[in-house]
Amino acid sequence: MSDRIDLAAFPRDFLWGTATAAYQIEGAVAEDGRSPSIWDTYSHTPGKVDGDDNGDVACDHYHRWREDIGLMRRLGTNAYRLSVAWPRVVPGGDGPVNPKGLAFYDELIDALLEAGITPFVTLYHWDLPQVLQDRGGWPERDTALAFADYASAVAERLGDRVTQWATLNEPLCSAWIGHLEGRMAPGLTDLTAAVRASYHLLLGHGLAVDAIRAAAPSAQVGIVTNLSTVHAATDRDEDVAAARRQDGHINRWWLDPVYGRGFPADMREVYGVELPEREGDLAKIAAPLDWHGLNYYMPSIVADDPSAPAPRVRSVRRLGVPRTGMDWEIDASGLETLLLRLTDEYPISRLYVTENGSAYPDVVRPDGTVDDPERTEYLEQHLAACASAVRKGAPLAGYFAWSLLDNFEWAYGYDKRFGLVHVDYETQKRTIKGTGHRYADIVRAHRGRARNAA
Ligand code: FCB
Repeated sequence: MSDRIDLAAFPRDFLWGTATAAYQIEGAVAEDGRSPSIWDTYSHTPGKVDGDDNGDVACDHYHRWREDIGLMRRLGTNAYRLSVAWPRVVPGGDGPVNPKGLAFYDELIDALLEAGITPFVTLYHWDLPQVLQDRGGWPERDTALAFADYASAVAERLGDRVTQWATLNEPLCSAWIGHLEGRMAPGLTDLTAAVRASYHLLLGHGLAVDAIRAAAPSAQVGIVTNLSTVHAATDRDEDVAAARRQDGHINRWWLDPVYGRGFPADMREVYGVELPEREGDLAKIAAPLDWHGLNYYMPSIVADDPSAPAPRVRSVRRLGVPRTGMDWEIDASGLETLLLRLTDEYPISRLYVTENGSAYPDVVRPDGTVDDPERTEYLEQHLAACASAVRKGAPLAGYFAWSLLDNFEWAYGYDKRFGLVHVDYETQKRTIKGTGHRYADIVRAHRGRARNAA
């Protein structure tokens, strides 16, 4: 079967996983003491989310998690990336911990371990408690401090069993899409707020790294960033310069400070916003990490656009290239390029692809199956790119398919389906799609090889 994927390239103990995020799957938004997050507020604001969908019920994972672990077992995966909902654990944003919120994750973790599945816990996948937003949110320094306290509470409770921790998921989206483009919660379009948010997100990351390690000394900690390869739409000087700014905006702004290089000077100039820096912050932001998580979906093609807000670029749609149901361009070579760039340019000793996947409009056929050959093709191409990066030296230790389940796809609502497993939202029935079965075959084939080689 998967001849095009060089399975022999992957290390024997390679982790094969799936990924999800709390607000996208859990539902149960008002249960057991959870307080509203900025995504509850945003999704309940008419016109913000396609179809005015919200995460009130989502995949009802809060009640159906046992069944969902059963699905992971059927896929044969040995790792699972989940996120913890801050508003469940610390409903007041800071202050008292809600034992019931932690109890949910506690039980879930035990069941994962019991099933032989290594949990990768992300502490912030965009669901800031609304109470903290009311006090200014990420543009304020206090939010970073509150994040570290919350991280410490979770690590104290789960750190005896969870070894793999990620602080933030895609801080780019929180800062740039949430505060500059306004297409995600909290829905602001304010460059100063966005730059301040980016700074405090990274400060919160660094403080949380220390807090997690203090609470759980054996913790291995990383950060998850979404990166793209960037291409200039033409070879005009203006477009080449625009591509450089876009690379700064989506890649370097997030990597350089985390790996000790500080915030890129060219981008500080492009934004022209004073950073809320205090002595010692940069060292905290650059806390040494055990691993880096890369989320990869698509390349970015840009042209100069002096009339656009910073970084003054506009996206250009290449014609005649394959696209997913999100209208995102498919370019698996970008995944290899980025894995190698992280390996070559930054002091990273272990990498994971923490998300990668594609949405298509799936249907359950009368015989009860879901046939999704385009998604299968996407998966295989990207796994082949991973294998090739490993052959060239990338220390890739695992791959997490986005996503285990179809789920609440943020501003796109439930229409965009990324799951390896189809969810019928009327009945909450789960059906493994063709790609899920293919993934299971690939995992099995790799495991068989590893066993034979032993
Ligand atoms: C990433 C998010 C994830 C999901 C995928 C499609 O940006 O981290 O929650 O929405 O995109």
